[in-house]
Amino acid sequence: MRDKNLLREDTDRVDGFDKVTGRAKYFAEYELPGLTYGVLVPATITKGVITGIDSKAAERAPGVLAVVSHLNRPVVAGYEPGKDQGVPNSSLKIFYTDQVAYNGQPIAMVVADTYERAVYAASLVKGIYTKEAFETDFEKNLDKAKWPKNAAAASYSRGTVDAYKTAEVQIASEYILPIETHNPMELHGIIANWHTADRITVYAKTQGVKATQGTIASTFKIPLTNVQVNSEFVGGGFGMALRTWPLEIAAVIAAKHVSKPVKLVITRDQMFTMAGHRPHAFQKVGLGATKDGQLTGITHEAFGHTATYEDFTENVVSMSKFMYNSANVNTSYKLVPLNVGVPIWMRGPGEATGAFALESAMDEMAHSLNMDPIDFRVKNYTETDPEKNRPYSSKNLKEAYQMGAEKIGWSKRNNTPGTNKDGNWLVGYGMSTGVFNASRGRASAKGILKSDGTLLLQSAASDIGPGTGTGMVQIAHEVLGIPVSQITFELGDSSFPTAPSQGGSATLSTVGSAVSDVCNALKNKIAELATGVGLPVSAKFQEVLQKTNLPSVEVTLESKGGEEQKKYSMYSFSIHFVQVKVNPLTGVVKVSKIVSVGDSGRIVSPKTARSQMVGGAVGGVGMALTEEAVIDHRFGRYVNNNFADYHVPVNADIPEIEVVFVNKPDPYINPMGAKGMGEIALIGFSAAVANAVFNATGKRIRTLPITPDKILA
Ligand code: MOS
Repeated sequence: MRDKNLLREDTDRVDGFDKVTGRAKYFAEYELPGLTYGVLVPATITKGVITGIDSKAAERAPGVLAVVSHLNRPVVAGYEPGKDQGVPNSSLKIFYTDQVAYNGQPIAMVVADTYERAVYAASLVKGIYTKEAFETDFEKNLDKAKWPKNAAAASYSRGTVDAYKTAEVQIASEYILPIETHNPMELHGIIANWHTADRITVYAKTQGVKATQGTIASTFKIPLTNVQVNSEFVGGGFGMALRTWPLEIAAVIAAKHVSKPVKLVITRDQMFTMAGHRPHAFQKVGLGATKDGQLTGITHEAFGHTATYEDFTENVVSMSKFMYNSANVNTSYKLVPLNVGVPIWMRGPGEATGAFALESAMDEMAHSLNMDPIDFRVKNYTETDPEKNRPYSSKNLKEAYQMGAEKIGWSKRNNTPGTNKDGNWLVGYGMSTGVFNASRGRASAKGILKSDGTLLLQSAASDIGPGTGTGMVQIAHEVLGIPVSQITFELGDSSFPTAPSQGGSATLSTVGSAVSDVCNALKNKIAELATGVGLPVSAKFQEVLQKTNLPSVEVTLESKGGEEQKKYSMYSFSIHFVQVKVNPLTGVVKVSKIVSVGDSGRIVSPKTARSQMVGGAVGGVGMALTEEAVIDHRFGRYVNNNFADYHVPVNADIPEIEVVFVNKPDPYINPMGAKGMGEIALIGFSAAVANAVFNATGKRIRTLPITPDKILA
């Protein structure tokens, strides 16, 4: 059990010192002997055929080793001719054919002895094309929407379809989210270093070293163990590093071609076209209720865009199926293929998109009913999952509503919009609910207890910032009672025991369970050894190892969930409260106070948990007020593909953020009783802001971001 003397409630990040002092090494900071530099050449048309690549000037430029393209690349064993879907997680095969599917698609890579020379030479490469007609305009092409290939996930209903249409009180609204790009500080890329024809080491930016290992191995048809992936530190992921992109495969191909290690770091503008984005979304929500506020029907239809060459799907409508108590629910989800790079999960992914629509609609309905938005949600609260007909493993949302309402000062909210003022500013309060699947997957870990009193843990997990190592060390501490300073957790190395990618808020639950199991097994081993040499089972492990003359004991095991996953619906919940101030003359919206409440089981690591919620709130302010990637549909090109024009929140945009946790263990999910937190930090947040803006002004903004022009319109 937790020893209060050993564990400070605010245990620091184990990698905090390395990160703030610059000692933490990110992929691009590795230097290898003979390292060369790759720069990608993007297509300048939006659809068509490459009829030639004029690379003569580039090849003559100083320091250039090669210009690699589909015309001269080495054989890639996984590129089977005529098969377009051959490579898992990399459906757009880089340098494969003469086809251009979108503007910015890499068509060639220049490799040179310095980065600057590669940049210059890349500017000399000219693609020659035959252009074809293209479509990048999502809203114009909604009528071309199709069911995704995974049609089962696309359509759902229980009870009566469109029951809202016959309800006593009805609302039906349309919501639009723009394309958003992840924009972590760290740019994407890879260093590829072939040792032999079938053995390679890469330094990667990835949310999953095992996933990267798998994609490279299958692309080049080499054994998994011949691919070593290192990714100890990641400078922000947000979902975009959940797959190995064509750009990474391009560097691996180029390294093979020049027989030297190649470093590729893409540019900020290429981050908009080569490493995914949140898809543009159009949603229709219909809600029906009785006059006293009981929901009688929920209809949620969603459309997202995808690439022409690959379906990207996400769970946009899932929340509408189980969040509230309604006998009648129907949902659908369709895709509009466009000439853009394929989208990818981004920050809370589709659930965050869907929650904006559902939680805005819930606010609209509460207003129509003249009910308090919290009272309306509590009225439609459900203790069992109405989609799967199972109890929740744990759900303390009513308590969470209370905690948040008190902290934000909800009693100061006036249910009539536009009536609360602070000088020249209109003041509004809004709230919303967030929910995300709380999962526990399969993971392995190794633990080595050493006679010097330390514990070393290893697992091929990743950390994109949430503080994985810190959480793991605290879990090990709780099981073994060893001071946290004596425990090391190593990750980001594909040779370590297998762990899943860091995504879907599952790492603490999944890898943490493996760490917990490993530590319990070590404890039993030490007790056995102690008994063997006549020591009490409670003897300190250092003493046991000394008496048995062992330098260390080691355990590696795999851990996974069991039947409980079928008996219970497991979700993490959040409530976001915001206070906004809106200037009615300029339309400026300032978020003036944020309270985020997490109901995610027991909090293992208070400091990093708080930091997750703060990060999600900051991302939420961006999603609500500023973020929008804009394509000029005449050319199929992004016009704001830089940090000057794509606006993410800065310090001045962020008020003090209060984070509170219900902090009650989930009895079923895993040994720690802890549920995931990454996604719930963001999911729902943008609706809380939109709802607060409505409360302040009486204007319902249903198209994100909520910019001044929309307030004034
Ligand atoms: Mo996340 S969008 O699961 O990295």
